[in-house]
Amino acid sequence: MPRPAKKTIKKEKEKDATAPSRKYKSFSRLRGMKDILPEEYRYWEVAKKKAEDLARSYGFKRIETPILESADLYERSTGNSSDIVTKEMYAFIDKSGEKVSLRPEATPGIVRAYVEHGMFNLPQPVKLFLIGSLFRHEKPQSGRYRQHTQIDMEMFGEPGPVADAQTILMTYNFFRELQINVQIQINSIGCKECRKIYVSKLVDFYKERGRRSKLCVDCKKRLVKNPLRLLDCKEEKCVSMLGEVPQIVDSLCDDCRNHFIKVLEYLDELDVPYNLNPLLVRGLDYYNRTVFEIWSVGDEQSRQSSLGGGGRYDDLVEHMGGRPTPACGFGLGLERVVAKIKETNIPLRSESEDCIFIAQLGEQARRKAFLLFEELRRAGLKVRQLFTKDSLKAQLEEANRLGAKFSLILGQKEILDGTILIRDMESGIQEVVDYKKIKAEIEKRLSNGESKEKMAVPLDKEEKSA
Ligand code: HAM
Repeated sequence: MPRPAKKTIKKEKEKDATAPSRKYKSFSRLRGMKDILPEEYRYWEVAKKKAEDLARSYGFKRIETPILESADLYERSTGNSSDIVTKEMYAFIDKSGEKVSLRPEATPGIVRAYVEHGMFNLPQPVKLFLIGSLFRHEKPQSGRYRQHTQIDMEMFGEPGPVADAQTILMTYNFFRELQINVQIQINSIGCKECRKIYVSKLVDFYKERGRRSKLCVDCKKRLVKNPLRLLDCKEEKCVSMLGEVPQIVDSLCDDCRNHFIKVLEYLDELDVPYNLNPLLVRGLDYYNRTVFEIWSVGDEQSRQSSLGGGGRYDDLVEHMGGRPTPACGFGLGLERVVAKIKETNIPLRSESEDCIFIAQLGEQARRKAFLLFEELRRAGLKVRQLFTKDSLKAQLEEANRLGAKFSLILGQKEILDGTILIRDMESGIQEVVDYKKIKAEIEKRLSNGESKEKMAVPLDKEEKSA
């Protein structure tokens, strides 16, 4: 039979490769959801570690609350006039007929836990932090997801401005230490009493000179339901009126004004740069007095991309069935933080850098290498391997790729001699060492235990310039 020409074979192969070969349709992630792949996860670890270190140094303890809670919890706390409750909650009736919701923000669950577990009996302030997923059915766009992750910190039981200042300082330190340039936007929305006075001034302002008729449809509704949110609108026709709008700080009562001044004084003393932003009101119903957001320098125009936000909420604990307890806190959006870390090109130390690689040649050597790997790993050394490969060349290439400091090589000859080779990956120099002395030998060479397991961390400025 005549053989098909080479060209035809190639064509058939190409056809095969593109033909639908899968038996089942594959899945894609839902709209607005994000996978975090291993390469990106390194940046997440950096941000999480920074948050955990900061939290602990300021005395915050970790808490986890359920992702599913009663929908009523959010309706009562986040508020019935917030976008989160009115438009964005993943709320549904569960199999027992209860209206539940995926957690759209962390504060209400933490407040519930504070009340439910009687944490007011603990020495105050009680400082709690949570790192977890939140769900909001928003319109997806760059930096805005339907599942996002927040680092959330809450402080209960401290009424003084020192608490506001300390939470703001923490957020500032978080970004500064990650080498992200931020500016704190800050405002005070007063207490229930002085806000009432301000809101009536605001409503009067819009009623004057036919301004109300120029508002967008949403703002016309806000004027009745929650006039403060008019300050937050992004619609061009509403924004154009904001320049003349009365400012809330001019309506603050003496107590609220003094509180705010003291917060600002603390920030001045601590050298935390801030911008007094009279339009900042935040979109959640529970805040009073200090509210703040963290904007990336250069992104000031893009309010949608705030890296974090928070404020004081002195009435919420009582409103959720607890004893009257002052509180304040903030949430940082991790997806946005990670995007900034990547943008700033902070070099990360590879998690495998300076590791010890164990290479083997032959079945017997592989078995022995397995045991050596476990022994060194248990001793806390940063060891890596590629036991699935037979070729020594492929294994040493992997060692190079990982940035290994040494490779330990075991072959048939070394098994017979009771030795092992140590190869310095930089110079390529190899030495034969007594197998029994290998652990001590490595520890000697890795003076200061520099190859102990460590996480990927950003290099300090000094290290970068060195
Ligand atoms: P928030 O302003 O709604 O506040 O969210 C805090 C941060 O989470 C935002 O500044 C942003 O970085 C991030 N974020 C919010 N929604 C999304 C989204 N759809 N996609 C990506 N990132 C997002 C709160 O949640 C309050 N619970 C904060 C707080 C704690 N206030 C007092 N204590």
